[in-house]
Amino acid sequence: MKEKLGSVEERELFFPPKEFCSKAVIQNPEIHELGQDREGFWNEQGKRLNWFEPWDTVFEWDYPFAKWYGGGKLNAAYNCLDRHLEGARRNKAALIFEGESGDRRVLTYQDLYREVSQFANLLKSLDVEKGDRVTIYMPMIPETVIAMLACARIGAAHCVVFGGFSAEALKDRIQDSQSKVVITTDGSYRRGNTIPLKANVDQALPSITCINNCVESVIVVKRTGQTVNMIEGRDIWYHEAIKNASIHCPAEPMEADDMLFILYTSGTTGKPKGVVHRVGGYMVGVSTTHEWIFDLKEEDVYWCTADVGWITGHSYLVYGPLSNGATIVLYEGAPDYPEKDRYWEIVEKNRVTILYTAPTAIRTFMKWGESYPLSKDISSLRLLGSVGEPINPEAWMWYYKHIGGERCPIVDTWWQTETGMIMMAPVPGITALKPGSCTKPFPGVHIEIVNPMGDPVPKGESGYLVIREPWPAMLKTVYGDDKRYADTYWSQFSGAYFTGDEAKWDDDGYFWVTGRVDDVINVSGHRIGTAEVEGALTDHPLVAEAACVGRTHEVKGQAVFAFVSLKEGISAYEGLINELKTHVVQKIGSLARPDDIFLSTELPKTRSGKIMRRLLKDIAEGREIGDTSTLADAAVLNFLKENMDAQK
Ligand code: WT7
Repeated sequence: MKEKLGSVEERELFFPPKEFCSKAVIQNPEIHELGQDREGFWNEQGKRLNWFEPWDTVFEWDYPFAKWYGGGKLNAAYNCLDRHLEGARRNKAALIFEGESGDRRVLTYQDLYREVSQFANLLKSLDVEKGDRVTIYMPMIPETVIAMLACARIGAAHCVVFGGFSAEALKDRIQDSQSKVVITTDGSYRRGNTIPLKANVDQALPSITCINNCVESVIVVKRTGQTVNMIEGRDIWYHEAIKNASIHCPAEPMEADDMLFILYTSGTTGKPKGVVHRVGGYMVGVSTTHEWIFDLKEEDVYWCTADVGWITGHSYLVYGPLSNGATIVLYEGAPDYPEKDRYWEIVEKNRVTILYTAPTAIRTFMKWGESYPLSKDISSLRLLGSVGEPINPEAWMWYYKHIGGERCPIVDTWWQTETGMIMMAPVPGITALKPGSCTKPFPGVHIEIVNPMGDPVPKGESGYLVIREPWPAMLKTVYGDDKRYADTYWSQFSGAYFTGDEAKWDDDGYFWVTGRVDDVINVSGHRIGTAEVEGALTDHPLVAEAACVGRTHEVKGQAVFAFVSLKEGISAYEGLINELKTHVVQKIGSLARPDDIFLSTELPKTRSGKIMRRLLKDIAEGREIGDTSTLADAAVLNFLKENMDAQK
């Protein structure tokens, strides 16, 4: 049966044009069948990288810990740089940087190799060794990519912290990783303003509990030129320190299972998890998926708009594309600066062929209207990607029509920080597309939708999204907490990794991911833990209790809606709501800022005292309230319902 969804028929199939298919990287319609021999498949894909030592085993499974490419030795930076220097790629643009204020820099593979080697030598001179951690808190500039690759080159694990996080969030992440060095900039640009990154570092460092050599040095890259306070003996200007650094630095041979980086992500508790990715499996996973899903050709200009502070930036801005020798575009700023046509100007100027962005951005462009993309020549585009949250069919169609000119396949890619690589997406030359569906698991990946007992649901039904078997780019563990790794991901369903997502399987076997079922809110494709926002709110001296839920939002996908009760004897005053919002921004960063805060005398709880978020979600969404039989005091609900409108 055809199901209408807005103006789009959910079951409508879109086939990529013949012209596209005949040139596609993957044309074999049996590719998914090939992937059923997972070990053989990933053994074959391992060969796409350069190894110092070959692997003995493709994977070993010591549930829930897996080892990929055991015995193999390689280096991620070597695979992104050195191996491209021998042939014609040496002088190919590796990175095209577009600064927010219009400055521009192009680095060839040779340039990038040189700068990475110099940065690596600088780190070595600061005693950074294999296995050490380095926190990177920077905007989207070439030095950020250079710093990441420099760490990888010497075997130090980078921990990139998104530049939009507050000093306090930064502090938690530096402390957990016990980083020896922090790399930052004086500031960053955002819509013509500057954000004081170095000052945030200064604020974060003094309160860190250091167990071992943590934060001995801070390297500061000059970006905005704003005044900063340099602390003698700790802080170093990059441009000064780099002057004498040698342009050669051997790449450290790493065990495939060694740590490549840590990336913090929100979970269901207040403490962010340090997701650990390792060199071998991760590099094979991102390299394969990047080439096949984005149909990468030598002459492509590939632009992923994600910030390097997120996993998308790690896997599909840096490691995937550079390992494949691609030309990447790195844009520093906002999509509407100085004008709302900025993205299309960048596409036109650089003849971008592949664009990878998020549904929230697409919906924003939709709102601005098609005159902006129309005002530029974006006909160079040949493939479009989407990531971060479900893409609604209307946004899909708009993207397809107004950006892709009805000639570009859209690859809707489902994955997570923890999966490291794309797990479900079309293989664009062979998979027919359905707007809103990420289609099917990538070859060599085994995904299922199961019922609460863990049994696969039949086609046409919904359930929990789980991953059955290990995959190469899977997280190794949660940094310093193997137990949390096992408990969080591998305990709900026996023998499977639980994603936290819910999904539907249609009659054609296509997957439709509907969203998270845990206490995680997806705001503009960014994961916000309800517990983190609640922690930030209850940290405010006047707040007694707080509960947060996600509310559907037209552009952001979801927005944070907070219910707050004040301490005994405190009454609300004008400006309090804003004060609370600002408090959250200070504690976490503006991405966690609640759109709405609703003050209530009490929050709905079960008899055992657990806040019933499900009911709060019904209220926030303005829908019929579900089962209230376990509620301790039904009067609370009536109060909430009656007073919501009054406070709006
Ligand atoms: C969660 C992971 C990995 C990229 C950025 C987000 C949601 C991600 C899709 C998609 C539907 C998606 C899921 C997932 N998600 N991509 N194409 N369709 N949902 O990484 O912060 O680790 O969040 O984002 O809910 O679990 P993340």
